[in-house]
Amino acid sequence: MAENRKLKKCSDSLTEITKLLHYRDINGQDRLFGGRLMEWIDEAAGVAAMRHCGGNCVTLMVDSLKFKKGAYINDIVVLIAKVTYVGNTSMEVRVDTYAEEKSTGTRTAINHAYLTLVHIDDNGKPAPIQYGLMTETLNERAEWEGAKKRIAIRKQRSMEGF
Ligand SMILES: CC(C)(COP(=O)(O)OP(=O)(O)OC[C@H]1O[C@@H](n2cnc3c(N)ncnc32)[C@H](O)[C@@H]1OP(=O)(O)O)[C@@H](O)C(=O)NCCC(=O)NCCS
Repeated sequence: MAENRKLKKCSDSLTEITKLLHYRDINGQDRLFGGRLMEWIDEAAGVAAMRHCGGNCVTLMVDSLKFKKGAYINDIVVLIAKVTYVGNTSMEVRVDTYAEEKSTGTRTAINHAYLTLVHIDDNGKPAPIQYGLMTETLNERAEWEGAKKRIAIRKQRSMEGF
């Protein structure tokens, strides 16, 4: 798509949410309840998408949600979300979740997810996003190219009824 829009940087959407795990976040196996983490991921992605498009968004789909490691009571959990791709009305957001070691501050990845969000108008209908995405780093360009492949896979999966 030829890019005639004004551009925002990937970093303009950067959203970091830090949580301290309480008993209300823990499941019957004494670890972080996956549903709670999914809520936080959705919220982080929503804020990142809103920061990019400057308006309201809804989550269309979540994919590649991979739980790599558990987290436990009193752990510090950090979510980092960033827009990786911008279409006409939709955006892809990547959310990385880490458990942060208290004594050293070292972060271990426990989850990563890609979400698709759609900018909506006052009637809840898809609305054009005014800003394209400026990719500045090798990693950001790789995410952009990866997103094009992921979008094709998502569309194919939807056509096949998944
Ligand atoms: C999200 C919603 C507004 C989209 O409406 P729609 O009429 O189906 O949207 P469109 O077909 O015009 O597609 C909108 C965008 O999503 C993309 N999209 C749609 N289906 C897709 C799929 N299977 N894979 C990848 N992208 C897809 C389209 O390509 C388009 O993006 P683009 O404009 O950047 O190319 C509508 O489905 C909705 O309201 N869903 C409920 C959302 C919700 O309640 N979420 C939970 C709470 S936030």
